[in-house]
Amino acid sequence: MPARLARVRDVADLRRFVARWRRRGERVAFVPTMGALHAGHVSLMQQARRSARRVVVSIFVNPLQFGPHEDFSRYPRPAARDRRLLEDAGVDLLWQPTVSTIYPPGDRTRVQVEGLSDVLEGASRPGHYTGVATVVMRLLAAVQPDVLWLGQKDAQQALILERMCTDLLLPVQVRRGATVREPDGLALSSRNAYLTPRQRQQAVALSQGLAAGRALLVRGERSAARIVRAVRAEIACYPLMREDYVALVDARTLAPVRAVQGRILLAVAARIGRARLIDNLEWSPR
Ligand code: PAJ
Repeated sequence: MPARLARVRDVADLRRFVARWRRRGERVAFVPTMGALHAGHVSLMQQARRSARRVVVSIFVNPLQFGPHEDFSRYPRPAARDRRLLEDAGVDLLWQPTVSTIYPPGDRTRVQVEGLSDVLEGASRPGHYTGVATVVMRLLAAVQPDVLWLGQKDAQQALILERMCTDLLLPVQVRRGATVREPDGLALSSRNAYLTPRQRQQAVALSQGLAAGRALLVRGERSAARIVRAVRAEIACYPLMREDYVALVDARTLAPVRAVQGRILLAVAARIGRARLIDNLEWSPR
């Protein structure tokens, strides 16, 4: 029988749990989320469990990372379902802080990871990554885990948070989990809940576009322009999708690439109905 899922709101209660584990010499892994949990989140929790004796998951819909016209207020919050999922995944502790716990009255501090934060998603969503880095820094300061688990689904976010942990000398190991997909290729996302059945069918455009890009890469194509054109052409076959960007960049610097040599990130974003979806593919020759 797995132990019962413990739930806390206050930082002091969270720290009591973690301190008890630490006294016993148990390693702690941490998976930050915004809830509306799906199999992508669960796969991170399972990998976290294999990396440490204890797993802490946070659910916090972070207002600071949403733009003024984005979906903060309607972001799905299926609390009871999330709790059951965490219990089944064998998570030890759920931390659900309030906004005033994470952003104490008078709060003035922001974390900005320069250069990586204003391209791709950052160009489309100004301030988004300052919101992400600021909240994850605070979550890490409270939990103080040995391992932080992030999803490849949000490759730019993972890169920025890896950079932040290195730059701020945080004593945490950062690990990435592979993107979990539906059988037809659509990357799991809490925002897929916004799709109507017809939009859901067409949302496969992103993974199909990436598959077209991968096919060219595998065949030896090295021209970024030609690869991007092929991805765009595939996405254009799905009339409900409105492309936001298709970009082929260096996976470590996010700088645009003309000819593929080292490790690259092929990143796509598109709107469909009320949803904005992203997906990506990391690839390196050989
Ligand atoms: P959220 O979208 O809830 O995602 C939480 C974690 O799950 C992130 O690391 C994300 O990359 C990962 N994830 C999402 N979909 C996935 C999939 N299909 N396969 C594998 N992993 C997936 O990302 C956030 O929340 C927030 O920005 C957060 C980091 C919690 C800061 O607020």
